[in-house]
Amino acid sequence: MSFPKDFLWGGATAANQLEGAWNEDGKGDSICDHMRGGSLTKQRVFDAEINDDYYYPSHEAIDFYHRYREDIQLFGEMGFKILRVSIAWSRIFPNGDDATPNEKGLAYYDDLFDECLKYGIEPLVTLSHFEMPFHLVKTYNGFSDRRVIDFFVHYATTVMNRYKDKVKYWLTFNEINFATMPFGALNVLGILPEQSSTDLFGMADRPQERFQALHHVFVASARAVIEGHKINPDFQIGCMLAQMTFYPLTPNPDDLLLVQDWTNIFDNFCGDVHVKGEYPWFMADYFKKIGVEIVFEKEDVTLLKQGTVDFYSFSYYSTNCASAEGGKEMSMGNLMGGVKNPYLEASDWGWQIDPKGLLYTLNYLYDRYQVPLMVVENGLGAVDVVEEDGSIQDDYRIDYLRSHIQMMDAAIEGGVPLLGYTMWGCIDLISAGTGEMKKRYGFIYVDKDNDGTGTLERKKKKSFDWYKQVIASNGSCLE
Ligand code: BG6
Repeated sequence: MSFPKDFLWGGATAANQLEGAWNEDGKGDSICDHMRGGSLTKQRVFDAEINDDYYYPSHEAIDFYHRYREDIQLFGEMGFKILRVSIAWSRIFPNGDDATPNEKGLAYYDDLFDECLKYGIEPLVTLSHFEMPFHLVKTYNGFSDRRVIDFFVHYATTVMNRYKDKVKYWLTFNEINFATMPFGALNVLGILPEQSSTDLFGMADRPQERFQALHHVFVASARAVIEGHKINPDFQIGCMLAQMTFYPLTPNPDDLLLVQDWTNIFDNFCGDVHVKGEYPWFMADYFKKIGVEIVFEKEDVTLLKQGTVDFYSFSYYSTNCASAEGGKEMSMGNLMGGVKNPYLEASDWGWQIDPKGLLYTLNYLYDRYQVPLMVVENGLGAVDVVEEDGSIQDDYRIDYLRSHIQMMDAAIEGGVPLLGYTMWGCIDLISAGTGEMKKRYGFIYVDKDNDGTGTLERKKKKSFDWYKQVIASNGSCLE
């Protein structure tokens, strides 16, 4: 096994998917607090006004806000070296444009990080995981208004200053490249839908507004990186993308060209801005085709160049194929699906399982960027069954994780500098895509159903002890 001895094994979460306590201790509502529950066949609906007739899963989530000590103790028992959490921006600045932060929110994360450090767990903090304060959405139309950059930087520097001795690893924007797709406009950019209630696919797309807002997010991220390094030069600050690995369905050159186009727009664009500090050459042509002209303020070129990230992190769940011909059988995936790959099996939610694709992706990314990498999301969303004896035999999850860890091992062996691995949803939490509890990822089962009922009791699954042994053996014992 080739995992370095300081390899960061752990798990990943996001505030809106596990904390709950959506309006406690001075927290303001965020984008996610306006998203109803859905399912594989029913899109989640966003309501501009929260309506008591509907169920909003983030409002209670798995109540981590009150149970974090118990949960972190379990992560400690598994031997986690790192825990990815996000700070709920609206717990610190309830409206987003407030002059002073909410002390109760700051104190909460102080305790949470202390609790991690007690077990030798490094926190890995995402500053923005689809959690913009809703007031910024409503009043400023999110990042489409350049002033929101200042609000974000104020928030980022507030928490970086406060936790500078407790947190070393930071990520700026979760899955920033979601904004290269029309339906990412609300979650990443905070662009307000015209309708008072809509699913994300029903939102009208205005590419000029969307890409200008994304430009503001790049500038906000770069400024957070620059300021973060001033606050503590030891900070390691990364970007975070949803990795969209596509294969050509056939050797038809048109399929290959389509893959190249999609990879450039959905992955390389954001990756290049974050790591190389400039817009890649191919975007000029794309913007021309879709009628977009990005307004750069005079300082932006320098900010993007100076605010490049220390490492590249990404989520990886599955791959898809691309075909220039229509009428193919389709498959699902994180953020977007594609054409079905005849060589791959899929999860219960139709995401194709492709460990070798992770090896390909790690090699591809290191070849392109030559900076350290981190896999900050990977896992299997599945239906788990509690047996009569109370056990949860999630061998399918162990198989999924094992096969992906083996490919990380192969990548490291081949020379890729991989810093760590945070398995997504280390404790069952609300699914971002569907709002369900039924789509479970965790090593720890949480007794809660899609409709919000359940005791919230935690139970170890079979994979709990398996992962404990993986960490203890530094990846050499995977059986
Ligand atoms: C990523 C997000 O899109 O994938 C997470 O960063 C999300 O927030 C994860 O939960 C898995 O997706 P889903 O839809 O299964 O929850």
